[in-house]
Amino acid sequence: MFSLTQKMEKSWDNEFQELVQALPKEDGWIGSHLYFYQGFWCPALVLKSFISFQKNFQAFASDVILATFPKCGTTWLKALAYITLYRSHFARDENPLLSSSPHQLVRFLEYDLYLNNPFPDLQNACAYEPRLFATHVPYASLPTSITDSNSKIVYICRNPLDMFISLWLFSTKLRDNNLRPLSPDEAFDKFYHGIYAFGPFFEHVLGYWKASRENPNKILFLKYEDLMEDTNSHLKNLAMFLGVPFTEDEEKQGVVPEIVKMCSFENLKELEVNKKGLHASGIPNADFFRKGEVGDWSNHLTPSMVERLEKLIQEKLNNSGLTFKLSCKTSRIFHPSE
Ligand code: A3P
Repeated sequence: MFSLTQKMEKSWDNEFQELVQALPKEDGWIGSHLYFYQGFWCPALVLKSFISFQKNFQAFASDVILATFPKCGTTWLKALAYITLYRSHFARDENPLLSSSPHQLVRFLEYDLYLNNPFPDLQNACAYEPRLFATHVPYASLPTSITDSNSKIVYICRNPLDMFISLWLFSTKLRDNNLRPLSPDEAFDKFYHGIYAFGPFFEHVLGYWKASRENPNKILFLKYEDLMEDTNSHLKNLAMFLGVPFTEDEEKQGVVPEIVKMCSFENLKELEVNKKGLHASGIPNADFFRKGEVGDWSNHLTPSMVERLEKLIQEKLNNSGLTFKLSCKTSRIFHPSE
């Protein structure tokens, strides 16, 4: 992962080097750099591919884009959306998730398709119509052909306490061996100041939140905690939003709980295809599955970290109408006005 990024940074051409030199730069969590560009911290690995994606991508009105904040349930959403959208194309006992990882089935635009190619073959990147892609890019930086067309966006985010723990443990695993480990305090400080891939979190989330409120037919806004609490209902809504509602017959045959079970953390984590192999960015497939719970932050954060984050949530989400559940078991809901 780190050496791939180093190779990329070396191969950047002059024009691009000039742009990059003018950008604020910070050490990333894994080993490569983060560059502050268009209001967010873009990982060095995908800066060039993000620019190509933004400049060259031509959306079709029928496209579906899964937009997510990292560590907020991207892998889960990819599995659910792929199987739901394309279920008429394969037999129930030939589920593509048995032989391909969710990241192979729904490919990232900046982290995969545009990584080494400013004009990738997008048509052959999707097995079926309509095209289905994924991105971590903030709403304000999406290509205008996505925001201005009738293409649909499904967004997922997660309470920032769990997202931080997921990111920290993920980065600790992948961090370059030559670097000393990132301590919990250092990681917290970076997190607090929004310095991590695609951060700050709140700007990202609010960008999609506001856009979804303005145009709910275009953007479906999901939260990991809600999906965890009632996956069946949210899956039905997702199917409806994608224009492929479950029929009465399908409901009678138990297709909804079947998809939910197939895409569950417990099931996906144990599949051979997800235990081995690497994602296009060099990350082992297995590292996308850790614990899959709501509220794991309480096993890791100190009371003072929790207090600071709760204040930050309150400050950032104030008057936005957006709330996050911090735990599913007790149904504790954090309202910014509390
Ligand atoms: P944890 O680290 O809290 O376990 P992303 O896919 O955006 O990288 O997010 C990764 C987080 O989603 C990890 O959270 C991971 O365990 C969890 N996850 C992966 N697959 C999941 C699934 N099918 N259902 C629920 N959570 C899942």
